[in-house]
Amino acid sequence: MTDTSQLKVLIVHGPNLNMLGKRETEIYGSTTLAEIDEGLKRQGADAEIMVETFQSNYEGAIVEKIQQAFMEDINGIVINPAALTHTSISIRDALLLLKAPVIEIHLSNIYKRESFRHKSMIAGVVAAQISGLGVMGYTLALEGIIKLVKKTRT
Ligand code: DQA
Repeated sequence: MTDTSQLKVLIVHGPNLNMLGKRETEIYGSTTLAEIDEGLKRQGADAEIMVETFQSNYEGAIVEKIQQAFMEDINGIVINPAALTHTSISIRDALLLLKAPVIEIHLSNIYKRESFRHKSMIAGVVAAQISGLGVMGYTLALEGIIKLVKKTRT
């Protein structure tokens, strides 16, 4: 049997995602970040995976969180770097520290929006990207990362 007792996944949310529910609701919907995080923790508990959530409006804080996750041997990361997706080489470099799988998620379809959103700095270093499925994207990203994590443990 697969030993999943210690498995831990980190969910990282970038700038302005703390404003979900208030922010451009026609694009991002009305669900708040607290509701998303609560759903992901429940989903993790059902799969016997510990889910930690983290949000910051600061690039350096996100880099430090990823470094900390690396030091703690995290089993997987789901990340929505928000606007930093399109600019942050330092988040990309931090993710390159990890052996653990990473899934990138965006609520909106970044390829259907302004051209400056079409480029993701991290897409080339992640296992997969989900873009445009709204909150369902987080659920699917967590499901995917759990499968990848458990596969490496089997
Ligand atoms: C986003 C897309 C980004 O372009 C934007 O800056 C965000 C949210 C999304 O989830 O659709 O803040 O990452």
